[in-house]
Amino acid sequence: MLLRRAHNIVCYWLDGSFVIQNYLTGTQISLATGAADILAAFTDWTSEEDAVSAFPDYDPESCRAAVRQLHSYGFLVAPDESERDDRLAEHWQTWSPEAAALHFSSKHADYTESPEINDEFRAGKRSALFKHYPDADRILLPRVPPDLDAPFVGTLYRRRTHRSFRRTALPLTRLSQLLAMVFGPSEFLDGQDFGALMKRTSAAGGARQELEAYVAVFAAEGVAPGLYHYNVLEHSLELLDDGFTREQAAHLCCDQTAIGEAAMTVFVTGVIERMSSKYRAPRAYRVMLTNAGHLGQTFALTATALGLGPFQTLAFRDEEAEDALGVDGIGETLLYVLAAGLPDEEPETEYGADLDAFRRADLYPG
Ligand SMILES: Cc1cc2nc3c(=O)[nH]c(=O)nc-3n(C[C@H](O)[C@H](O)[C@H](O)COP(=O)(O)O)c2cc1C
Repeated sequence: MLLRRAHNIVCYWLDGSFVIQNYLTGTQISLATGAADILAAFTDWTSEEDAVSAFPDYDPESCRAAVRQLHSYGFLVAPDESERDDRLAEHWQTWSPEAAALHFSSKHADYTESPEINDEFRAGKRSALFKHYPDADRILLPRVPPDLDAPFVGTLYRRRTHRSFRRTALPLTRLSQLLAMVFGPSEFLDGQDFGALMKRTSAAGGARQELEAYVAVFAAEGVAPGLYHYNVLEHSLELLDDGFTREQAAHLCCDQTAIGEAAMTVFVTGVIERMSSKYRAPRAYRVMLTNAGHLGQTFALTATALGLGPFQTLAFRDEEAEDALGVDGIGETLLYVLAAGLPDEEPETEYGADLDAFRRADLYPG
């Protein structure tokens, strides 16, 4: 029988063991490192005997046994077993192995309750829910409820990504309302063993509120330009760097002019332990990214309703930006960058798709 190495495997060291994982099937075992040599012999379709003969120094019987075991675990596949493996490798080719390994290995979610996590929380092993900079200079923001009755449907359809802004300063109340409505608490719930938990206007898987907001203010009435941390509980801006400039922000976001022109930019980070202390499965990472997306959409809709133009980007220089924020990029990592300002004009009209545009699009496969 011919066999070939599965395409969708990754190997790594874990606690002293050499681990091989097929992220399509979810199978993960620890291996003797010599088994990696055997797998290396199966890049192309190869018979067991040809592979065994490639290792004259190995005992042929144990070599055969290893081949059969690797096959039974799905690290080697026969032609009639390779269809899904081939399909994944083809469809995810340019994203493999990084994104494919993350996505597929976090597919097999375990939703069972883990009482030991509740026990740990009860015993006090929890991570702080809020971050603050007690020694920083701060501005306590006004708590002015927005005098808004923006129609929902109109706001939804008016939301557009803006890339050009007026240099006029944002009214302080607008900045304050935007931060409060997107990042501030809407209420607190009793999470039982997990204590009081904050809710925001955006849904957040697990309500751990692992996302922090660092606000670079460039043009807002009553707020000196600089980089601040938004203190959620105080509704304040804690000054981190009064020399932080538009040019720096634009540079950190790969020189995008929208960031260079916006009145304010929000760097959204995720505090890993706040999430991982409760959710141990790697799928929680996906939840965290999705939570950031929710905050981004709420930011865009709220900015629109307040008469501001929103912008968002994932194009940023991660490590440089994390350095600028003063976070280590490991325990707390940058996930998303949002910005807003007074719109220069309506975003450039994009022409409606005409018959010719539809002809140029592939509407359906095949
Ligand atoms: C996650 C995400 C990342 C984006 N990144 C960028 C970006 O780096 N630069 C940019 O100009 N627009 C960026 N955009 C804006 C999209 O290009 C825009 O949403 C899309 O063209 C649709 O236009 P609309 O938002 O006006 O409806 C991003 C949007 C999202 C949701």
